[in-house]
Amino acid sequence: SNFKKLFLSLQVYLFVCSQVLLQVEIYEIEGNIFRLKIDEASPLRARYKVPDVLIKEPTTKRLFISHKEAGILVLSSVNEDYKLQVTSNPFQVELQSKGETVMSMNSNGLLYFEHLQPPPSDRKSTVQNEEAASDSSKEKQEDLGLWQEKFGNFLDIKAHGPTSVGMDFSLHGYDHVYGIPQHTETLLLKNTSDGDAYRLYNLDIFGHKIHEKIGIYGSVPLLLAHKPNRTSGIFWLNSSETLVDISTKAVHTPSRSAAETAKQRAVPLTDVRWMSESGIIDVFLLMGPTAFDTFKQFAQLTGTQALPPLFSLGYHQCRWNYEDEQDVKAVDAGFDAHDIPYDVIWLDIEHTDGKRYFTWDKQKFQNPRKMQEHLRKKKRKLVVIVDPHIKVDPSYTLYAQAKEKGYFVKDRNGQDFEGISWPGPSCYPDFTNPEVRKWYADQFAFKTYKASTNILFVWNDMNEPSVFKGAELTMQKDAVHYNNWEHREVHNLYGFYQQMATAEGLIRRSSGKERPFVLTRSFFAGSQKYGAVWTGDNTADWSYLKISIPMLLTINMAGISFCGADVGGFIGDPEPELLVRWYQAGAYQPFFRGHSNMESKRREPWLFGEKNTQIIRRAIRERYVLLPYLYTLFYRAHTAAEPVMRSLWIEFPEKMETFDVENEYMLGKQVSYSLGFDLNIFEVVWKPFCPGFVFLQIPVFQRGGTVIPLKTTAGKSTEWMIDISYELHVALDTEACAIGELYIDDGHSFQYLHKKQFLYRKFTFCKNILSSSCIDESGQYHTTCVVERVIILGFGKHPTSVTQTLLSCSDGKKTEVVFTYDTKTSVLTLENIALSVDADWEICIS
Ligand code: GLC
Repeated sequence: SNFKKLFLSLQVYLFVCSQVLLQVEIYEIEGNIFRLKIDEASPLRARYKVPDVLIKEPTTKRLFISHKEAGILVLSSVNEDYKLQVTSNPFQVELQSKGETVMSMNSNGLLYFEHLQPPPSDRKSTVQNEEAASDSSKEKQEDLGLWQEKFGNFLDIKAHGPTSVGMDFSLHGYDHVYGIPQHTETLLLKNTSDGDAYRLYNLDIFGHKIHEKIGIYGSVPLLLAHKPNRTSGIFWLNSSETLVDISTKAVHTPSRSAAETAKQRAVPLTDVRWMSESGIIDVFLLMGPTAFDTFKQFAQLTGTQALPPLFSLGYHQCRWNYEDEQDVKAVDAGFDAHDIPYDVIWLDIEHTDGKRYFTWDKQKFQNPRKMQEHLRKKKRKLVVIVDPHIKVDPSYTLYAQAKEKGYFVKDRNGQDFEGISWPGPSCYPDFTNPEVRKWYADQFAFKTYKASTNILFVWNDMNEPSVFKGAELTMQKDAVHYNNWEHREVHNLYGFYQQMATAEGLIRRSSGKERPFVLTRSFFAGSQKYGAVWTGDNTADWSYLKISIPMLLTINMAGISFCGADVGGFIGDPEPELLVRWYQAGAYQPFFRGHSNMESKRREPWLFGEKNTQIIRRAIRERYVLLPYLYTLFYRAHTAAEPVMRSLWIEFPEKMETFDVENEYMLGKQVSYSLGFDLNIFEVVWKPFCPGFVFLQIPVFQRGGTVIPLKTTAGKSTEWMIDISYELHVALDTEACAIGELYIDDGHSFQYLHKKQFLYRKFTFCKNILSSSCIDESGQYHTTCVVERVIILGFGKHPTSVTQTLLSCSDGKKTEVVFTYDTKTSVLTLENIALSVDADWEICIS
């Protein structure tokens, strides 16, 4: 009867060092997720468990015991799709889906858990008292050594001793693994048999090299494994320094069929070993089975991409630094003079009074409010930098307040931790403390942040945190945070929390009405909820343009769709051709910002001769024309956790030839970008895995079978484009069908959420009829915009007539549509249509 017993979680106890009991908890979570948690059953003090990353406590499902024998327990999900076989000696867990072993844990016996111990002095006396010291004095010395570690000139004192944890996972049948950003590495994760593990430790590495597994800026401990019939994920929820070892091999298993008796079957297997400096083992196994299912599962745990305000999907012009108000106005005017759209101009650290954030340099920015009013009239925005470090200066209000309230991170002696950053000696707000976050968010209130207006948005940089002259240029691990947690426990969360507080501040200053825009350099799992990230200080070199694609694809897979790389390369001076190519690439990446270092030459898009200006103009204008499609993709990322930028294997999961492609990707389902070749407009291209149509001069393809919504032309900025009509590009598949979507709302508020003010439409082409219908009836949004033009690619014959019908009109009257047909390219163009985007209608071609 016991066999039918239902469990909300299974608890198993293990012994380490034959004395310390570990508690293992196994849960099934709604939506094909399993969770394995291992902690000490009764630790000397609580171990750190990452807070604030999971959006809610996951809903667990019931597991029942389907088999039990000495040392073996088999747990089944209620529908018996999944089985977990837990063996006791050695402790192992095997996860099967419908009889197929997908993953096993601790099959290589690498589970380890450094349990908390009394400090060496106490222990020494205990041992002496008990006279049970069998170990030599040398061993005792080594033991003491684990409580402190030297790194160069730095001494790291581990107040609670060594506490690392680790575990191995075997992924059966998989030899393609991805994820665990951020590294300057290939899309496909490499074997680390060279001894060089992937490191997840947020660091500011200026002039970072490419093809390195050392961590930079941000970390998401999510690894995905893919094989033709299944994608799975491992989410290792730990914010301390983490290493990941990967080893892929072919395992020869005994053949099953007679035909195979002569040979053995080689089945790929990937072993992944996670090791973290502290915390507990808390791991989520995402069982897919499709890539999109794993994205949903990860989003169910950590949240989806925040829906960006529309302006932030436009082009951003940044530089360290735009010098003063005149410079800002001149650059702004330059865009208009050269007919190049842009939405946002950025101010780097020099705009402040001596790197005191939330202030202005009074000489260079004498009237920042007026400058913002000028930009507002041009329908543009301003982004300013707000770094986490706070200048040590008792006359600086922010410093004085934080000091008085005890809001700074402390050093191991209980003093405010002091490091060096841009302003010189600086202290660091302890964003892990909710009260500090609230205080920080309040700094963005219009009346507190002098001369800030509602067109001002924020850039959080240096938040790894970067500490010049610190160990590895970051904060010492023995610094102390809220609730007495050491920095080592929370390191990878510091930037995550700063962006959280900043986004909250921007929402609050608008009384909850407006969507924030916050760019962060450091990030963790879940940062997608707070805004955008970029890949930091890249170099103006072709190799960095190339690596930006796998880096962004990896960040997208880890849930953060809104990401980009500095266009042109931050460090150095790009040759004009590189700059032009980078604009063409950036125009098809989610976050699109030109940025350059102080020492580099000015590089506004019109400084490289008329021909180059023209190509850059065309690339940026293409971006603006594409915004309805891109915004719709972000709506899908926001509501359905679909990454905006996708590696090819995600869209073609069974085509093995796509599994390691990293110079080509899909923007949504419908558009593919590839680095390195140039083709003419509307040439049909058949690719082995993706027949499609080139529709633009940048090597971009539209996938057959899709409809993409565009604007008929670009405007000076997104706000200038509200009333510009739409154009649909219908690319037919081999069955002469196509399908696509369009999402529209006001582009800046939360009314889409609270008042359901949006339109979510579907376009279908089938049997020579293009129809527009509603996907989500609950949404309503008033717009006078119409679909003005339709271009049908791959239309087989010259039509005799084309008519349009407004279905919502009771008379169902048909009217003629003007069209042209190009026999050579099979392109049918329908002009001067005026069908409302919010109405149901049909266009019939005969
Ligand atoms: C860091 C940032 C860079 C910025 C500079 C000055 O290097 O990564 O983007 O321009 O700091 O603030």
